[in-house]
Amino acid sequence: MRACRREPVPYTPVWLMRQAGRYMREYREVREKTTFLELCKNPGLAAEVTVTAVERLGVDAAIIFADILLILEPLGLRLEFSKGDGPVIHNPVRSGVDVERLRELEDPAALDFVFEAIKHTRQALPGNLPLIGFSGAPFTLASYAIEGGHSNTFAKTKALMYGHPEAWHRLCEKLSSVVSNYLVAQIEAGVDAVQVFDSWVGVLSAADYREFALPHTRPLFDAVKKRVPTIHFGTGTAAILEELREAGGDVIGVDWRIPIDEAWTRIGADRGVQGNLDPTLLLGPPARMLQQTDSVLARIGNRPGHIFNLGHGILPSTPVEHVQMLAQYVHSASRRH
Ligand code: CP3
Repeated sequence: MRACRREPVPYTPVWLMRQAGRYMREYREVREKTTFLELCKNPGLAAEVTVTAVERLGVDAAIIFADILLILEPLGLRLEFSKGDGPVIHNPVRSGVDVERLRELEDPAALDFVFEAIKHTRQALPGNLPLIGFSGAPFTLASYAIEGGHSNTFAKTKALMYGHPEAWHRLCEKLSSVVSNYLVAQIEAGVDAVQVFDSWVGVLSAADYREFALPHTRPLFDAVKKRVPTIHFGTGTAAILEELREAGGDVIGVDWRIPIDEAWTRIGADRGVQGNLDPTLLLGPPARMLQQTDSVLARIGNRPGHIFNLGHGILPSTPVEHVQMLAQYVHSASRRH
């Protein structure tokens, strides 16, 4: 929490995106008995996997176990997580008519299971350990709603964006208002900070970001700012860091494609940074992972306002011992730096 506010810290805090996930035996054991969606909707189990990850890894923050796509269901999109293929939306948004059909969600009660999971988790965590809530940003959520799943080219997303800009803006306005209410409700349920995931927004140029994403992301940050610290995350964003900063976030997430000090200069000294180790370095060998960790810490020096993290989520094939080693190393090495 102090790093979010750019206050001095005795060592660099660290947490890892997807820290509760398939790379961990305890998670796989829970997942054997239930589907991913059922797990998200079971507050007791969601709290258990959240807390187990923190305990096993010795990290400095928990992130609530949920998914950015859960919010699409109450809007009327039929979501499934299929084995191997990842998320699938059976009735994707392809036209202005589809956008108009999406339900408005003034009351986020349809996602009560998330707020219950937050309350359970908050009770189970040590008082000094922050719990991070999160949501997707309009661009990334819209891309799943339009593509019907993951995409490499974002062809359908961009076709709607360029071809039917009024439908695109209407869709993103709906998502932005739903997500604002959802984040506020997470804060009321007890999260200490929130992260907005715009995972795929790096496929936009700076000019397109300004036209198609920024007007919808900024209101989210406006809705929650001053209540709790906010983190704004994306990947492939080296060309649009100034725009992300302008959209909002006390802390800006930085992936591994750009040195973190260079990114921080562009983001500006009035914000913190989070990142930026390449997740594949955790696959091994540890020497290279630790060497690169040192390099990130050295580039930061002792400027307050850095949260150590990966540039994207932990991969399922990661050895858990490497993750534990990384968390310990960040603590000990940052005391020296
Ligand atoms: O970080 C954490 O530990 C908290 C939980 C969390 C999950 N998803 C759990 C999850 C968070 C913060 C997310 C966010 C999320 N979900 C994002 C943004 C972050 C990113 O990775 O860019 C996105 C794009 C999604 C959508 C999503 N969910 C995809 C593309 C997939 C399939 C990919 C995969 O790894 O299988 C998921 C499924 C998912 N979300 C899993 C977990 C632990 C794996 C599900 C399983 O157990 O089978």
